[in-house]
Amino acid sequence: MNYFIHTYGCQMNIHDSEKIAGILEKLGYTVCDSVNDADIIVFNTCCIRETAEQKIYGHIGAVKKLKRKNPRLISVVCGCMSQQDGVAQHIRESYPYIDIVLGTSDLNLLESAIVAAKNKKKFVNVEFNTYREEDFDVSRTSYPNAWVNINYGCNNFCTYCIVPYVRGRERSRPIDDIMAEVRQLLADGYKEITLLGQNVNSYGHDLPNGENFAQLLNLIGELPGKFRLRFMTSHPKDLSQEVIDAIAAHRNICDNIHLPVQSGSNAILRRMNRRYTRENYFDLVDKIRQKLPEVGITTDIMVGFPGETEQDFCDTLDLVKRVRFSSAFCFVYSRRKGTPAYSMPDQIPYSVKKERITRLLACQNDVTKSISAQMVGSTYEILVEGANFKYDNVMCGRTESGRLVNFKCDDGFIGKFVSVRIDRASSATLWGTIVEEL
Ligand code: 5AD
Ligand code: SF4
Repeated sequence: MNYFIHTYGCQMNIHDSEKIAGILEKLGYTVCDSVNDADIIVFNTCCIRETAEQKIYGHIGAVKKLKRKNPRLISVVCGCMSQQDGVAQHIRESYPYIDIVLGTSDLNLLESAIVAAKNKKKFVNVEFNTYREEDFDVSRTSYPNAWVNINYGCNNFCTYCIVPYVRGRERSRPIDDIMAEVRQLLADGYKEITLLGQNVNSYGHDLPNGENFAQLLNLIGELPGKFRLRFMTSHPKDLSQEVIDAIAAHRNICDNIHLPVQSGSNAILRRMNRRYTRENYFDLVDKIRQKLPEVGITTDIMVGFPGETEQDFCDTLDLVKRVRFSSAFCFVYSRRKGTPAYSMPDQIPYSVKKERITRLLACQNDVTKSISAQMVGSTYEILVEGANFKYDNVMCGRTESGRLVNFKCDDGFIGKFVSVRIDRASSATLWGTIVEEL
């Protein structure tokens, strides 16, 4: 019996798919490379932008044909898209060949859902249900990195964002459970731990003993052995001095912060309900750089939010040039039903959004290029992460600050720390040579 998982969206979903894989393997399924060989197909979905949804519906449609070839095939749709209002119903009505629909916190129901599907019964559950991480054997796919959830959901309600509606309110995982998982992962030989939360900085506010994110960083940072600790995502309004100090105090904690700014215009930030100004953001970046001079700051930026004027957009370009992000994920605003921004006036025409995203990408590209050029000739510690599939015997890995570097070596180096001299740079891509194994 084989399984195939389609994963869409962010790291949170990638890690959820590792949990799904663990459940399926416990039930006797083996991973396969092609949907044609699968006895169970899982669509772990995303709905952050309309483009993601359109792609997923296209892929789900293909199940009809696959089921004709293999009538015993079981199909599952889970994750953020299925949690949206009305979607489970829509899938039942328009995609009758889907057997199981589960929401974002119902993975503990997957096993009984599969039993039902084998008995030709449909299984739909999109009630928030919350499970314990400890209930699953995770089948990890990202060695030498291991993802670790620290909190779930979001209370911020940025006006464009669907996440609080599909992932629910913030829930923090008990600190002892997180520490036990991290210790086990390090004992198992993982070399990088990435803590996951929609907003890691609000970790602990709902816990009885008032633990916080800085405390968690300090506890993990003090664990013995050589490994890297990363975390995402940080909301700028909640990143405290204690967190910056914790990063500075521990060698194991990478000087790399993903700090989504979304816009450089105060008027837009206000309408997005981000609860900081561009001036607050500049101050925060100064505070971070004072303590962590080598830090790599990455970000998410959106263009075409309702009412965004040419001047608002120019404020974003100006912020990008001033902050000098090491990289930025740039998005075109997508209207999400159920969010406040959906019904805001002055929605921006697609042609304007497209023109702005092109200009934004060019602007960030110039910044990345100049940071890359400055890196040429210097040597950085890299954790070898995996093969660059475009070339034979080329591996890639990241600097502590998060920049991806390609270099020649064989896959025996995966999971090792090496020292790499940067030889050349083409915009975002860096090429180097190993000068020492660490
Ligand atoms: N349209 C476009 N981008 C969005 N994001 C969140 N919601 C939307 C939306 N409706 C982006 C934000 C966020 C990232 C994960 O996705 O930039 O930080
Ligand atoms: Fe969405 Fe804002 Fe929460 Fe991030 S902080 S998940 S953008 S609502």
